[in-house]
Amino acid sequence: MSYLFPTYSRWEVEPDQSEGSVIIDKNGKKYLDFTSGIGVCNLGHRPAVVQEAITSQLNRYWHVSNLFIQEEQENAAKRLAESAKMDCVFFANSGAEANEAAIKLARKATGRKKIITFENSFHGRTFATMSATGQNKIKMGYGPMLETFVYLPFNDIEAIKKEVDDETAAVMLEVVQGEGGIHIGEQAFLNEVSQLCEDHGALLIIDEIQTGIGRTGKPFAFQHFQLMPDIVTSAKGLGSGLPIGAVIGKKELAHFFGPGSHGSTFGGNPLAIAAAKATMEVIFQAGFLEEVEKKSVYLFEQISKELKGIPDILNSRQLGMMIGLETSIDLPILLKELRNHGLLALPAGSNVLRLLPPLTVTKAEIDKAIHILQSVIRNYSKAAV
Ligand SMILES: Cc1ncc(COP(=O)(O)O)c(C=O)c1O
Repeated sequence: MSYLFPTYSRWEVEPDQSEGSVIIDKNGKKYLDFTSGIGVCNLGHRPAVVQEAITSQLNRYWHVSNLFIQEEQENAAKRLAESAKMDCVFFANSGAEANEAAIKLARKATGRKKIITFENSFHGRTFATMSATGQNKIKMGYGPMLETFVYLPFNDIEAIKKEVDDETAAVMLEVVQGEGGIHIGEQAFLNEVSQLCEDHGALLIIDEIQTGIGRTGKPFAFQHFQLMPDIVTSAKGLGSGLPIGAVIGKKELAHFFGPGSHGSTFGGNPLAIAAAKATMEVIFQAGFLEEVEKKSVYLFEQISKELKGIPDILNSRQLGMMIGLETSIDLPILLKELRNHGLLALPAGSNVLRLLPPLTVTKAEIDKAIHILQSVIRNYSKAAV
């Protein structure tokens, strides 16, 4: 019997070691990790630069509290704010905490309550972020939710035009819905959302928890769409595996988060900050992101070529290193079969196989993963005929 609450249906793989794109289990079996710890290990497992930064901080101090000025926290905030072309950062410990803070900030700054989010979105598991999430399965048994969220179909221009008004505090969205099934925002829709927010004095909050930190080939995914959000949230990839979240905002919002108005004991912990700073130094380099862009084009071309004509693959979607393959194959069975063959992949939505490889993945690893993917899917499809 496990002493853990059974909140996760855990896989049969028990990791012993990890390095780069590979996890080795306790039996010595190697897996290509195309999950990146659910979009976290963007530089692969145990990247040396991050390890060095954490070790160096371990030898200085671990925790002092946010009552102290910490130069590295300032430096990390500067790097993060500049990469989003914004001005201020609040550090939290997770994605949900970052979104929770963003929701609080939007309410306080506008003096309004209504927040518009989208069907199939995912924003976290705290009360406000669960309420913001547009998926009933996340909320089952926990009601009542916070009441002031409105959920609209994603990419529906007419629906958003009807709903944004002078009572709206914010529109909150993922430009690529990750957990919901790799649904990509359309340019015209995102432009409309942005314009409506401006017209009505509502804030545009972009949840970049899964899409940010280079995952789509830009520092943040909204930068593919020339958007200018008021608030951006980040987590997952930011700390390369150390827990950290962040709210990034415009300077006009700064005074709404004055002393005592929000806080966190561990937010901006020195070890997590050291990891985040080292991670950003690598990922935000133009040359690194150009490579990610090239490799993601290659990855999707190969997927499209190798999976072409397989009737069980219904659709495929991609932005950078976020790939979704809609499939008619039972997902848990397919994912287990892939694991048996040494490839780790994720589910998203009800019928989407999601690939989130490390941004450092090599071409040879991409080829190997696609070989496993196509042979497992083809075998399954043949057996099912
Ligand atoms: C878009 C998005 N927002 C928020 C979250 C919640 O992040 P965390 O699990 O760190 O609380 C997630 C996690 O999957 C996410 O993908």
